[in-house]
Amino acid sequence: MTIRPERPADFDAIHDVVRAAFESDLQPDLVRAIRNDACYRPPMSFVAIDGSQVVGHVMLDGCWVRSTTGLRPIVMLSPLAVAPDHQGHGIGTALIDTAVAAAEAAHEPLIVLEGSPAYYGSRGFGFAGDHGLTLPLPDWAPARAAQVRLLTTYEARDQTLRGAVVYPEPFSALE
Ligand SMILES: CC(C)(COP(=O)(O)OP(=O)(O)OC[C@H]1O[C@@H](n2cnc3c(N)ncnc32)[C@H](O)[C@@H]1OP(=O)(O)O)[C@@H](O)C(=O)NCCC(=O)NCCS
Repeated sequence: MTIRPERPADFDAIHDVVRAAFESDLQPDLVRAIRNDACYRPPMSFVAIDGSQVVGHVMLDGCWVRSTTGLRPIVMLSPLAVAPDHQGHGIGTALIDTAVAAAEAAHEPLIVLEGSPAYYGSRGFGFAGDHGLTLPLPDWAPARAAQVRLLTTYEARDQTLRGAVVYPEPFSALE
């Protein structure tokens, strides 16, 4: 299994993997909408390849923190998907690790996401609320689904990193 940035030739296969993982058209449509939006970060969108087959995918997208001083750009991890017949073999974890390394290389201070506190909590993330961040979670999500990974350049005293996370436009379709 190898992980590399996504390429246009992967897009149809990614669509199929994301749809199979989520059993929905919402997330694969979200991936396409992200690529047509300013939030798209091509060097931070990765595929996992087994042989020549796309078996996993992750994206870091641009978003913002609305703090007392204004809007500050950050990145969010969404979506993450592994083909159902390849789950449970560490591919999701490897994709997260690759995304985290890319964010570190770009000197991003943190990564936010919505997701299982159990899954992400054992992969270096923690409750965003503990660091002064709120996420616009859907009503059905538990509060602790708001997760953050603090990176090397994060400084707790930086007030621009405290406030309400604002998602980019493509995510409005998921609300
Ligand atoms: C979540 C997902 C990406 C994990 O991929 P994966 O390659 O199977 O993950 P890994 O092999 O690295 O880790 C597997 C572990 O994750 C756990 N896990 C999988 N889905 C989970 C979930 N929704 N909530 C909590 N834990 C989950 C498994 O139980 C397993 O636990 P273990 O390590 O204690 O045995 C994959 O299951 C998937 O695509 N799910 C559907 C889409 C989705 O929910 N994406 C995440 C949105 S935040």
